[in-house]
Amino acid sequence: MWSSRLVFVLAAAGSAVGLGNIWKFPYITGENGGGAFVVVYLACIALVGVPIMMAEVMLGRAGRMSPINTMRKLASASGGSGFWPVIGWMGVLAGFLILSYYAVIAGWAVYYVGRLASGTFDGADGAASQAAFDAFLADPWAILLWQTVFMAVTVFIIARGVARGLETAVRWLMPLLLVLLLVLVGYGAAVGDFARGAGFLFSFDVSSLSVGGLLTAMGHAFFTLSLGMGAIMAYGAYLPGRTSIAGTVTTIAVLDTVVALAAGLAIFPIVFATAGLEPGEGPGLMFVTLPIAFGNLPLGAVVGAVFFLLVSFAAVTSAISLTEPALAFLVEQYNAKRTRVAISLGAGCWLLGIGTVLSFNVWADVHVVGGLTFFDFVDYVSYKVLLPVGGLLIALFAGWVLAKPVVAEELGFDGWQERLWQAAIRFIAPAGVLVVFGYTIYQSV
Ligand code: TRP
Repeated sequence: MWSSRLVFVLAAAGSAVGLGNIWKFPYITGENGGGAFVVVYLACIALVGVPIMMAEVMLGRAGRMSPINTMRKLASASGGSGFWPVIGWMGVLAGFLILSYYAVIAGWAVYYVGRLASGTFDGADGAASQAAFDAFLADPWAILLWQTVFMAVTVFIIARGVARGLETAVRWLMPLLLVLLLVLVGYGAAVGDFARGAGFLFSFDVSSLSVGGLLTAMGHAFFTLSLGMGAIMAYGAYLPGRTSIAGTVTTIAVLDTVVALAAGLAIFPIVFATAGLEPGEGPGLMFVTLPIAFGNLPLGAVVGAVFFLLVSFAAVTSAISLTEPALAFLVEQYNAKRTRVAISLGAGCWLLGIGTVLSFNVWADVHVVGGLTFFDFVDYVSYKVLLPVGGLLIALFAGWVLAKPVVAEELGFDGWQERLWQAAIRFIAPAGVLVVFGYTIYQSV
């Protein structure tokens, strides 16, 4: 069990804050035209993400087992069917798929630690930064090397048990990461085109919103809060009984959102002030823009290296949570040794990740289905399909199946709080997911 509420907050925040905030949020915002996308994303966080996160923590604490067995136990205690553990199984699959490419991108961040430290970007302009990134992406062996390093570190930590390392990492490194992000926002305000950058993020222009953007926003709300696959449920299993779930979850969601918006405010002013860069540049956005800032700041090489190191740590604390549902299940069910499970899982993810490594070079023109590269495909299946569907099922179970006394005991709501919760988890959150899904399917047929 976590020693206190604080440790749970730190672990869950460590899971939530990661590449999703700093790498993915800015680039998908850029691809989807900015402001309107951000509004939809924020609405998804507040109306769908927060209630579902509360549901996951509640289910985890009520079951106190791995997600698969927690769902088994709670479904049978509430007279539900044997169908519900499918949430746990889908979650194991989603975690595996996500980690396979997450480790590849995290490897890029690790690689950039050394690149910045060695002064490659001193005085760099847009063209130089873009060229350095393109050269790296063209070399599958280099990407493979850093993917392997990242995966090895992750496996090492999960094999040893996570509690202590995680606590230090999150308690000290996360605030530092936030401070450095604010320094970058300051750089953007001083040197970049801050007005256009902020305008891009916050001006609401409905015409820029596409159907694909809706689905991306919904998927990303799940991704960034680590929802829909049982990661937060697995952590909830270790939460002490007395802690307020609503307060804790709100804190985590706010923190996660602040980090994402800060990353956007750091990146877009640089994009608009630099010749040759575009918001819709894609997955390379963070790696092309931020080195320009560091290359032109005093002590930029050192500060930049520290920044990418912190991003790498943030990625490790997220990667750990992607493995927890599978790991907890295998250890609990088969009494398997943690070390052995961690190594096998890591090896499997690493192998699958090679497909993603090759998507950026050798297989760049190989399409699995409908124009999607291997990376795009794994990404699509996991975060646009498995996470929202998992989240929908979690909401339905928590709202309609789970026995009332369990909910009352876990959440401790009364009066209006109870009614608000019921409305959110029974209707608003499921309807939100269904509308976005339904609309997307309607538009594409
Ligand atoms: N939330 C993490 C990020 O933003 C990624 C992540 C960790 C995740 N655990 C998860 C995503 C579970 C979905 C489900 O980088």
